[in-house]
Amino acid sequence: GSIDGGGCPMHNGGVRALLGRTNKDWWPEMLATEILNPNGASNPMGDDFDYAEAFKSLDYQALKQDLHALMTDSQDWWPADYGHYGPFFIRMAWHAAGTYRTADGRGGANSGQQRFAPLDSWPDNGNLDKARRLLWPIKQKYGSKISWADLFILTGNVAIESMGGPVFGFGGGRADVFEPERDIYWGSEDKWVNEGVQTRIAPEHGMHELEGPLAAIQMGLIYVNPEGPGGNPDPLQSARDMKATFERMAMNHEETVALTAGGHTFGKAHGNGDPSTLGHAPAGGDLVAQGFGWVSGEEHGGRGEHTVTSGIEGSWVNTPTEWSENYFRLLLDYEYELVKSPAGAQQWQPVNQKEEDMAPAAWDSSKKVPTMMTTADMALKMDPEFRAISEKFRNDHEAFKDAFARAWFKLTHRDMGPKVRYLGPDVPAEDLIWQDPVPAGTTPSDDDVGALKAKIADAVGSGGLTVSQLIKTAWASASTYRKSDHRGGANGARVALAPQKDWEVNEPDMLAKVIDTLNGLRGSMSLADAIVLGGVVGLEKAIEDAGFSVPVPFTGGRGDATQEQTDVESFAVMEPEADAFRNYVGKKKLAVKTEEMMLDRASLLGLSVPEMVVLIGGLRVLGANHGERGHGHFTKRSGQLTNDFFVNLYDMTNVWQAADDHGEEYTATDRKEGHTKWHATRADLIFGSNSELRAVGEVYAEKGHEEKFVKDFVKAWTKVMNADRFDLAA
Ligand code: HEM
Repeated sequence: GSIDGGGCPMHNGGVRALLGRTNKDWWPEMLATEILNPNGASNPMGDDFDYAEAFKSLDYQALKQDLHALMTDSQDWWPADYGHYGPFFIRMAWHAAGTYRTADGRGGANSGQQRFAPLDSWPDNGNLDKARRLLWPIKQKYGSKISWADLFILTGNVAIESMGGPVFGFGGGRADVFEPERDIYWGSEDKWVNEGVQTRIAPEHGMHELEGPLAAIQMGLIYVNPEGPGGNPDPLQSARDMKATFERMAMNHEETVALTAGGHTFGKAHGNGDPSTLGHAPAGGDLVAQGFGWVSGEEHGGRGEHTVTSGIEGSWVNTPTEWSENYFRLLLDYEYELVKSPAGAQQWQPVNQKEEDMAPAAWDSSKKVPTMMTTADMALKMDPEFRAISEKFRNDHEAFKDAFARAWFKLTHRDMGPKVRYLGPDVPAEDLIWQDPVPAGTTPSDDDVGALKAKIADAVGSGGLTVSQLIKTAWASASTYRKSDHRGGANGARVALAPQKDWEVNEPDMLAKVIDTLNGLRGSMSLADAIVLGGVVGLEKAIEDAGFSVPVPFTGGRGDATQEQTDVESFAVMEPEADAFRNYVGKKKLAVKTEEMMLDRASLLGLSVPEMVVLIGGLRVLGANHGERGHGHFTKRSGQLTNDFFVNLYDMTNVWQAADDHGEEYTATDRKEGHTKWHATRADLIFGSNSELRAVGEVYAEKGHEEKFVKDFVKAWTKVMNADRFDLAA
C-alpha cells in the first residue's frame, strides 16, 4: 500500500465535531482502550505520583552521558546515517515541540504526545517511531525519573551538543500522559495531507487557509510541505506558508530562519527508494510490526541507504554531523536547479557544485554526493525578507549561533509555562519575555488579609464597589489560565496591563474603576492578591445574603508583573472571542458554536463537567454577565449565591423561543399567561437541552442541595483562582 494513515470513513456533511477527527475515524480497527478509563485518564503511576519529585532523584549527568553514547551506538535494525543518530534525534525533538500553537496553547512537547495516535502516524513524523525505540533502553533504565516528554527534548539537546552545536539550556518537568489527549483539535480535514506521497499537501488546502479559532496546523504536517505548497516547488509561496505556520508556533521570522537553517546544518533527508512499497503508519500496523510503521516491502527492508521518509534525498551541507557555517554558505553561494529524488520528490541541487562542497555519502564516506535544498530551504534564499535575515546570519555567525540556541530553547520550552516549573541543573538563569515572568510575591499576613477584606467590604457597603464587579474582575484575572501551556492566570495581575485591560470581554471602564479602587485600598499587598481577595469578599457576601455560612479560602503570595515583562503581542492571541462564564460573545462570527467555545474554555481551565456546570450556574445569579446583559440571570434575588439558575431553567412553565436570526438569543414566555419570563443565550439553554449537562444541573436544582451547590461553587471557583499557583505545589 501507499504511505497512508488509514482512510477516513466519516463524511458528515460539514457539521463537524468540536474535536475534529478522532483516532476512531482514522483507524476504525483501533482497540477501544478508553472504555476502561470512562472516568478519567489512564495512568499506571497513580494519582500520588509526583513527577517533579521523581525528577529530583534522577542522576541527570549519568543520563546525559548515556545519551551521548547512544548517538554513535548504531543498531542493525535501524542503522545511523554517517554513524551518528544526532540529526535524527533533533528532528524527533523538533517534531515533538513543533505541534505547539499559540491560539490555544495546545500541542507541543509537554506531555509526550508523539507516542500516541494520531501524531505517531502523521506522515511528517515518518520513521520517528524508530527514533523513540532507540531511546527505549535509556528510558527503561531511568524509569519514571525521566518522562518520555522530557527525554525527547533532552535527547535533542544532547544531539546538538554532541555535534558541537550551541545549546542555551534545558528545563525538565514535562509529566507524561498515558493516552492520546482527547481535548485537542487537530483539524477537520477528512484527508491526510498526502494521498500517496508522504508530504504532499492536498492542493485545495493552502497553508494560508488555516482554521480558526480552535485553529490547528494542517493535519499531518508539523510545518509546511517541504516540496512547496501543494507540491508546487515555489520558494516564495513556501516562504508565505512558513511565516504563517511558524508564527502560530510563536516564532518570528528571524527565529524561523535561525531554526530551519540550524536544524538543516545537520543530517539528511531520506528518499532513496520507492515510496509505494511502504506499509501502514504505526497506528494501522500489523501486530508483528510491534508499533513500527512504514515497513518497507523491499528486499533490503528499507533501512540505511534505502530509507524513504520524506521522499527527498540528500544532506543540506557537506558536514552533516558537525555544527558549521556551511548551510548559509551553500545556500547563498550556489545557484540551484530543480531535480527529482529517486523517490520522485522535487528538490533543489547546486549547479556545478565543487567536489569539496559535496557531502560524503551516508553509507560510504569515500563517495561524494551533491548536497540539496528543499523548496522550504530555498524560501530562505528567495524571499526578500528571509534573504536579508539569511545574509545577516551568514555574515555574523555568532549572531546565528545565539539566535539558533535561543530559538531552539523557546521552541522546546514554550509550552511549559513560567520558569518556576522548570527542573534540573541546566535551567538558564536569564529571564525570557516569552516565559511571562512574574516577580515573586510575598505572602501577606492573616492580619493584612483580614484588614484588606474589611476595607473592600466597606467599599461594597458604601456602594464604591459591587459584588458583581468584584466577581467579574477576579474572574477576568484568573480565567485567562490555560493548562495547555500554563500561561495566563491571576498571578502577575496582567489584567491591569495592556492588552488585557483593554479587552472588550473585560469591560475596560468597569475594570479600570475596580482596579483603581483596589489599588487605593491594598497597601503593601500585591494587586494580583487584592483582585482575588476582592472575589473572596464578593463571594462571601453573596453566600451570607443567601443565608449560608461557607468560608471562601484565600491563598496570598502572588506577584505583580510590569508592562515591560509583558509581551503584548503574545498575550493578544489569548483574548477570548467568547466567554460563556460571563455570557459574552464578541462581534466576530465564530466558526464553532458558543457552547463549544464554552467547553473549550472549561477544558483549558482544567475543569470537570460538574465544575463547569456549578460555576456557570453560580456566576449567572451573581450578575457576572458581560455588561448589563441580563441573559441567564434566572433569579429574583440577584447577588445571592443560590441554585436559582437551575431551578428556574428546569421549570416546565417556560416555553423557549429563538429571539434572533442566528440562534444566539432566546426568550421564555409563561406557558399559561404568555408573559415574558426570562432571556437566555445558547450558553444558558445548553444546560437544559444537553442531557449530560442537565443531569448534573438537576443535582444542583434538587431540594436539599442548596448548600451543596454553594460549597461546590466555592471549590470550583477557588480552583480557578489558584490554577497558576505553581509556587504552592513546589
Ligand atoms: C529533516 C523539512 C524545519 C531539523 C528534514 C526533512 C525534511 C525537512 C523534508 C527530511 C526528513 C527525512 O526524509 O528524513 C523541514 C521543513 C522545515 C523544517 C519544511 C520548515 C519549514 C526544521 C527545523 C529543524 C529541523 C526548525 C530543527 C531546528 C531537521 C533535521 C533533519 C531534518 C535535524 C535531519 C533528520 C535526519 O538526518 O534524519 N526536514 N524542516 N527542520 N530536519 Fe527539517
